[in-house]
Amino acid sequence: MHKTELIVALDTHTLKAAERLMEKLEGSVRYFKIGSVLFTAEGPAAVDLVHRRGGKVFLDLKFHDIPNTVKGAVKNAASMGVYSVSLHLSGGAEMIKASADLEKRPKLWGITVLTSLDEHNLFRAGFRCGIAKTVSRLAALGLENGVDGVVCSPLEAARLKKLCDGKLSLVTPGIRPAALGDDQKRAVTPAQARAAGANFIVVGRPIIEAEEPAAAAAAILKELK
Ligand code: C5P
Repeated sequence: MHKTELIVALDTHTLKAAERLMEKLEGSVRYFKIGSVLFTAEGPAAVDLVHRRGGKVFLDLKFHDIPNTVKGAVKNAASMGVYSVSLHLSGGAEMIKASADLEKRPKLWGITVLTSLDEHNLFRAGFRCGIAKTVSRLAALGLENGVDGVVCSPLEAARLKKLCDGKLSLVTPGIRPAALGDDQKRAVTPAQARAAGANFIVVGRPIIEAEEPAAAAAAILKELK
């Protein structure tokens, strides 16, 4: 069976808090996600911190702009040495391709539909064919234009794996460990995400807000084996 890696979301507001968290996870977690909250507070120093401590960075700034601008941002991310960056697939074929065609670049992970959007919200935003079809179309657009993976709900993972014939990495947030119980209706456990074909799972609060982040991460890693 394929390998599923854990990415911990460093959703803190300061470098200090991020470093404290990384100290606790030392030796067990390799991949860290830096999103817009930490990046707008601390900038590239956050990327340096992860690299200094031997981790790999998923720079999750969810780029969405004209092709030339996104290409420039991906190029800068490449020079910081990050492992992967995210961009919104709804930015269109040209935007995706401009970044994918860069010679030296991080892995490109395309956002399909944010799981915070329901059918009604998506419709009001102008996407009129429903979540499932929109996700499929955007993933196909990403594949055609050179992304390496897509960020999607674990509930969409198995379907996308088939649709893309295994050619894209699947990166899934929205994970809640089995140990926390099943009180959230749409929660997916790490083991379920893995079984659905996820290559990476992104976990934030269940680890970073745990009383013992190391123990929470260890339990998730055990579930992924
Ligand atoms: O919910 P949790 O704290 O585990 O979320 C971890 C990270 O995943 C957050 O940084 C959030 O921005 C990201 N996320 C995402 N897409 C979603 C849900 C969460 O990128 N659909």
